[in-house]
Amino acid sequence: MSDHGVIESHPTEGETFPPNPEFVAQANVSDPAVYWKAAENPEAFWAEQARELHWTKPFTQDLDWSNPPFATWFADGELNVSYNCLDRHVIAGNGDRVAIHFEGEPGDRTSYTYAELLHEVKRAANLLTSLGVTRGDRVAIYMPMIPETAIAMLATARLGATHSVVFGGFSAESLRSRIDDAEAKLVITADGGWRKGRVSSLKPTVDAALELHPGEAHSVEHVLVVRRTENEIAFHEGRDLWWHEEIVRMDAEHTAEGFPAENPLFILYTSGTTGKPKGILHTSGGYLTQVSYTHKNLFDLKPESDVYWCTADVGWITGHSYVVYGPLANGATQVMYEGTPDTPDWGRWWEIIERYGVTIFYTAPTAIRACMKVGRQEVEKYDLSSLRLLGSVGEPINPEAWIWYRDVVGSGRCPIVDTWWQTETGAIMISALPGLTRLKPGSAQVPVPGITVSVVDDQGNRVDRTQGGLLTIQRPWPSMARTIWGDPERFVDTYWSTHGVNSYFAGDGARVDDDGDLWLLGRVDDVMNISGHRLSTAEIESALVDHTSVAEAAVVGAHDDTTGQAVVAFVILKSQQTEVTPESAEDVLKKHVAGHIGAIARPRQIFVVPELPKTRSGKIMRRLLKDAAEGREIGDVTTLADTVVMSTISERVRAELSSKA
Ligand code: WTA
Repeated sequence: MSDHGVIESHPTEGETFPPNPEFVAQANVSDPAVYWKAAENPEAFWAEQARELHWTKPFTQDLDWSNPPFATWFADGELNVSYNCLDRHVIAGNGDRVAIHFEGEPGDRTSYTYAELLHEVKRAANLLTSLGVTRGDRVAIYMPMIPETAIAMLATARLGATHSVVFGGFSAESLRSRIDDAEAKLVITADGGWRKGRVSSLKPTVDAALELHPGEAHSVEHVLVVRRTENEIAFHEGRDLWWHEEIVRMDAEHTAEGFPAENPLFILYTSGTTGKPKGILHTSGGYLTQVSYTHKNLFDLKPESDVYWCTADVGWITGHSYVVYGPLANGATQVMYEGTPDTPDWGRWWEIIERYGVTIFYTAPTAIRACMKVGRQEVEKYDLSSLRLLGSVGEPINPEAWIWYRDVVGSGRCPIVDTWWQTETGAIMISALPGLTRLKPGSAQVPVPGITVSVVDDQGNRVDRTQGGLLTIQRPWPSMARTIWGDPERFVDTYWSTHGVNSYFAGDGARVDDDGDLWLLGRVDDVMNISGHRLSTAEIESALVDHTSVAEAAVVGAHDDTTGQAVVAFVILKSQQTEVTPESAEDVLKKHVAGHIGAIARPRQIFVVPELPKTRSGKIMRRLLKDAAEGREIGDVTTLADTVVMSTISERVRAELSSKA
């Protein structure tokens, strides 16, 4: 484990919950044979699932792994992703079924049936065409959580173009680097969105992004602006267009053309271990196959009767796979909510569940822990008896939060599926199957049928059961990332070089218990997980040293009771600078990081220190900083060049913590 730090595993086995017979009787999957049938021939299993989709040209090939790690799935087949999410449901007679119940944060509500959503997407596809978007072009989407965001994504997909959704909380600089990397020719945004009772403006950030680096040309020809909040925004003649003015001029007919299964569907940027975000590329047929299979079966979806709600923002992979593509491909009725769970008060989510009769609810442990803190009385004010299944994603869920989720939100009735996956995996990889699995709080449990994982040591040898190791995926899967946009070498180096080209290294530690259930132990690389959002230590360090007063910086993810981890930074100020004092540094630098990357990256604490702990070869020992930040005894310091450094730092941290207590 030397390169990846010591993996500690804390077994926390307790009570387990077998599936209840009533649930099993109606479950989509209740025959355990699915596991061995899929394992016997995973490619045939996935091909069978792929045939559930509508193909304009049926495929004859499944997996092609002749050039690892660059996979293709169903490559000679052709389909239209947008057609699969919309037209086919309308053609099947389900045009009147609600696709999206939208609730804005201020309380405005609209619903779109499948027929209405299709109508909007067709007009939007014609609008994008009129702006010159064609197959293969990249479209950046920087939007709040409103139906137009899904419409924009589906319209882009309908044309065989590629979207790059950038989370609305990212800064102008982060947005610009993503626009540049993908060479987006169109940006779709909104005047703003509602968050915590206020307008968070988006269009001004797009303007700022496009004005950065004057003298350097950018790729953007047009900015299409959805009106949501009616706040004042600047308009650039010729470049900017109002969505609502353009869309009404568009023809409501649009025929969806089939595109090859490997046509790029989207790029989604995610943090890695270096400062530069990676543009994870997903393609069409394999991606849609696995997101729809997992959405239908792990959540036990009954499209005719369920009301599904996933609280993730479309700016992240969960929003792509389990707000847009999975649920719509399955013809589900879902809730989409714009705002935060505490606006106007902590009853908001539960009120929404009651209003729409939500039956399947999918959220993140951070949110559950935040609700636990506020107390069960906020939940108990509402009637949540419609719920029948709960899901969790984004970070390990601690058994206490799991039990609270089950008892308080699910009234002890609803199975919980804890789903492990990543931006790179595209779809869920490890989870319980609710009609089959004996649930174990805190464990993500077992690989999805057709998926093979292995927990190994640094050399790639399988570790003994109950021992911690590295989580790897042993076979290609349909929704796997195809490459890093513009950087195939980095794709190989990051994921496929630790144990060779046939073993995908996920970056997570894990252990398998005596029953064969998997426990996720957090990241083993320099990626942090803050409220289920991925951030890289290197990216925040480079934002810090970009400040004129900072000489050096080191960032760690320290344990946090609510957000899982929190960003803690250690900085050395330049000796000659006069801009910040050790007292003002914390505030100034927190703002600097938020401005540079986005508010999600704002450190919880910043400590000004005289030195950083380094090995004799000059490598910063983040493990020791993490010990200090978490208020633990400092670990082994013998490899440090200067052993006094760490005691100075931990004294600083302790003094700070006790002054704030
Ligand atoms: C973590 C989010 C434990 C993990 C879908 C992974 C989890 C990273 C779980 C991916 C889970 C996600 N249990 N850890 N159920 N789900 N993670 O790309 O560290 O934003 O590598 O995808 O989140 O984050 P990403």
